[in-house]
Amino acid sequence: MRKEIILLVLMSGIAIIQSLAQGIDDLKITHGPYLQNVTETGATIFFTTNKLVVSGLMINSGSGEYELIQNSHDGLIDVGDDMHKVHLKNLEPGQEYEYRLYACEIKDYRPYKCTFGDTIISQTFKFKTFDSNKEQLNFTVFCDIHDRADKLSKYLDSNKIEKQDCYFLNGDIMGHIEDESQLFSNFLDTCVNRFATEKPFFYVRGNHETRGQFARQLNSYLDFSNGKYYYAQTLGPVRFVVLDGGEDKPDSSKEYSGLVDFDTYRLEELAWLKKEVESNEFKSAAFKIVVVHMPIIENKKNWYGMAFLAEHFGPVLKEAGIDLMISGHTHRNAWIESQKSGFGYPVMISSNNNFIEAEVNEEEISLKLKDLNGDIEESYIIEKK
Ligand SMILES: [Fe+2]
Repeated sequence: MRKEIILLVLMSGIAIIQSLAQGIDDLKITHGPYLQNVTETGATIFFTTNKLVVSGLMINSGSGEYELIQNSHDGLIDVGDDMHKVHLKNLEPGQEYEYRLYACEIKDYRPYKCTFGDTIISQTFKFKTFDSNKEQLNFTVFCDIHDRADKLSKYLDSNKIEKQDCYFLNGDIMGHIEDESQLFSNFLDTCVNRFATEKPFFYVRGNHETRGQFARQLNSYLDFSNGKYYYAQTLGPVRFVVLDGGEDKPDSSKEYSGLVDFDTYRLEELAWLKKEVESNEFKSAAFKIVVVHMPIIENKKNWYGMAFLAEHFGPVLKEAGIDLMISGHTHRNAWIESQKSGFGYPVMISSNNNFIEAEVNEEEISLKLKDLNGDIEESYIIEKK
């Protein structure tokens, strides 16, 4: 009798261990999906899995039938055991697409035979491509979150997500970057839970995101039109020019331990900017907005990085006649009139406890500065020149 009881206890213990092991071993989507680099004709979708899989997306462009899209590089279809990045191309402007994540486990990867395991096809998400013929664009800008995912979440409580076309994360979203888990816990998971499965965000690197041992990997979690942290994109009536201001102190500062080279980098970026402002896409846009973490303004109190930007980038942007610059970094709200920035454009700076909602139509840019409670502190209108 006693033996039977012991046997039963042992057997149920084994069953529990087996079911726990089974649970741990189940193929899962661990983070995401989130949208990046959505354009008129393309989009990139990121997600992670806990096992080695061949990944893809099931896409429905309105016909009701899902087509499996898989990316390949150098002839090999993408396979991985963590982050998956699926790029879609040849999409139609202004069209809504439904998508499902696809992941098929590779249990045993041999040179001449692979054994496949479970397949996941996720729930359905949807997104819309941009359309440069559209005269309306709504967007929201967050900056200087400094790892406070709870703050980002609170901002979003008062942000009508369904009204937004996209988001900008305008730098210092993290204080420094140590590892992958920090990216997910401190902002990415919040973006996914609130909006990023269906609305893209555009990342603007701040001076703090250049710090920490994982800073060099940040761009593996993002996608940009030209693969750089400085890029330009036409979204509806706006040509956005996103700039990377680099670090705020001289490269030789002891805090950087001799591991940065931002003077060289900013000059490469400047050469790119000079070409961008001569492009048809820039010149033909109804509005030109620069999004940059550190404001580019004339100010005798500028630290090294801001002084460098003012000296080299300010005159180019003045000549290009941009309509607006949106910045953060100073942790203080400021509205700098065109005639006071030094370069003929207005600058809106939001603090580390405020965010910006913008609505653009063919006539004007309307800007609202909101606080943590969602109350509007300031509003501005920029009329078309
Ligand atoms: Fe900053």
